[in-house]
Amino acid sequence: MRKKTTIKFIKDISNDDQNISLTGLMGSGKSTIGKYLAQQLQKKFIDTDSLIEAQEGKSINDIFAEHGEKHFRLLEKELIKTVLKEKNQVISLGGGAIIDEENRAVIKTNSALIALVASPTDLYNRIRRRKNRPLINNEENPQQKLEDLWQQRESAYMDSHHQIDTTGKSVNIVSTEIMKALGIKKPKVQEQAVVIPRENFCYKIYFKDLNRINLSSLSPGKKILIVSQEPVAKHYLAILEEKLEQDFEVHTMIVEDGEKAKNFFSYQLVMQRLLSLNFERKDTLVALGGGVVGDLVGFAASTYYRGINYIQVPTTLLSMIDSSVGGKTAINVPEGKNLIGTFYQPHMVHIDVNNLKTLSEKEYRCGLGELVKYALLGARWDVLLGDDFFDFIKANAEDIVDRNSDVMLQVIDHCLKIKAGIVSEDETEKNIRAHLNLGHTFAHALEEVTKYQVFSHGEAVAIGIVCSCYLSEYLGSWEPEQTEEVIELMKSLGLKYQIPAPLDNSAIIKAFKYDKKNEGGMPKFIIPKTYIGWVDIVSNIDTATIIKVLDRAKT
Ligand SMILES: NC(=O)c1ccc[n+]([C@@H]2O[C@H](COP(=O)([O-])OP(=O)(O)OC[C@H]3O[C@@H](n4cnc5c(N)ncnc54)[C@H](O)[C@@H]3O)[C@@H](O)[C@H]2O)c1
Repeated sequence: MRKKTTIKFIKDISNDDQNISLTGLMGSGKSTIGKYLAQQLQKKFIDTDSLIEAQEGKSINDIFAEHGEKHFRLLEKELIKTVLKEKNQVISLGGGAIIDEENRAVIKTNSALIALVASPTDLYNRIRRRKNRPLINNEENPQQKLEDLWQQRESAYMDSHHQIDTTGKSVNIVSTEIMKALGIKKPKVQEQAVVIPRENFCYKIYFKDLNRINLSSLSPGKKILIVSQEPVAKHYLAILEEKLEQDFEVHTMIVEDGEKAKNFFSYQLVMQRLLSLNFERKDTLVALGGGVVGDLVGFAASTYYRGINYIQVPTTLLSMIDSSVGGKTAINVPEGKNLIGTFYQPHMVHIDVNNLKTLSEKEYRCGLGELVKYALLGARWDVLLGDDFFDFIKANAEDIVDRNSDVMLQVIDHCLKIKAGIVSEDETEKNIRAHLNLGHTFAHALEEVTKYQVFSHGEAVAIGIVCSCYLSEYLGSWEPEQTEEVIELMKSLGLKYQIPAPLDNSAIIKAFKYDKKNEGGMPKFIIPKTYIGWVDIVSNIDTATIIKVLDRAKT
């Protein structure tokens, strides 16, 4: 189906504000790669099919059905001319746009034209899930139809400036190859800020090396207390201390390691230290560590003098993608986890993705469980990748498992866009913030019945997400093939997704009673709904259905 492709320069078309147009058969990755590339190069992303849909107020399917392909091609031709009058864009073209020689000439004059090619099996696997492909939807043999389309279009694709083979390659690798072909230097570190508005309050999340932390928004000369735990402190405390000492009076404090630190005793120790150092309202607490330190320090900051600044420097994957943003603070009591706490936003979050390198395998995997959650609820919140975030994680699974810093930077940034979007709409979990608990009702129950000894939180969340998929299937909102996709993603990230068989169903069901999300004693479940990237909240689920879910999760 494919000619052997080589990456070659037709002419040097690289410059700062050049347009890059992506063409290729459906499933070649134009959209996901285009969005990623646009973000990397800080260019505007344009999808011509989406623009036509918006302009006509109907789907491509409907345009084809109601007016035919010829009409669609005319709309497409006009749009391409208009779009290419602008500069600094990554443009994902409809797969057939470049067959027309006039279109091809306009595109090649005004942009670098890249053809993305892939093996038929890869293409077919990528498009299987989507229902918006008018040229292939009703085909009995879609794979054959793809072959035929290739035969028709091959010469046009080969007339592009560069051809890049995407077969089996991650989004990151394909984007790097495109940049290389165009002579564009890959931007080194992303220093992007995400802003969360709350009343008149917002704070930023910086992605920089730890020794480049910048607290210039704080009053100089004031006091800082860095709170950390030994496994983190031994790697990073000195770096942070040295940097902050240039402008502040810096004090440090190590609390006990592990979840145990989130208790009244540690809270009291932090308070006593702040009092003995005569901390005032304008002084600042810094949490250097994972979610435990972050929650403890946030709670202390929210209550000392009725609230002082605190800064999150998250060092675990879970805290980088989740707990450091959103302002939930808490300590545990014998009656349960996180039962005493506040909503109190940090002043700033500083993330050094390289800190992940020293994290244990178990703790890293814990974060991966939460990552799958984001892959399943990103559609509405991640304006850049939307529901493609799932595919993005899938395509980059190997790099994610290997903790590739470039890829992780993108992954964390996208998760936080989702979290920031949700939190800015519902800071105190009146409704939509509950979506972040996808899979968590099952997860908390599993943790509770095993007394927090068997699973890490992320491992329990991964199993909980699979249970939520099963539940959604039984409620008619999800297809078994979608569950399979989720399980495949978990496998590629090295996550377990089954409940160990000996666990007793009735004990798990009893444990639902203690979930903080309950209303009137009824457990609530967040389940994926209809499409990957969308979720819903359901309750009043009968016990027989829950047992079916749990039994299936054990097989
Ligand atoms: N506030 C929220 O919105 C929110 C959300 C999710 C979870 N949480 C809370 O987060 C906590 C779990 O956080 P966590 O998963 O980050 O675990 P954690 O904070 O306990 O950290 C895990 C372990 O890794 C060590 N560690 C941390 N960073 C390291 C690094 N870079 N290198 C080497 N070792 C490192 C820690 O010392 C600890 O031993 C729970 O208490 C949970 O309730 C809060």
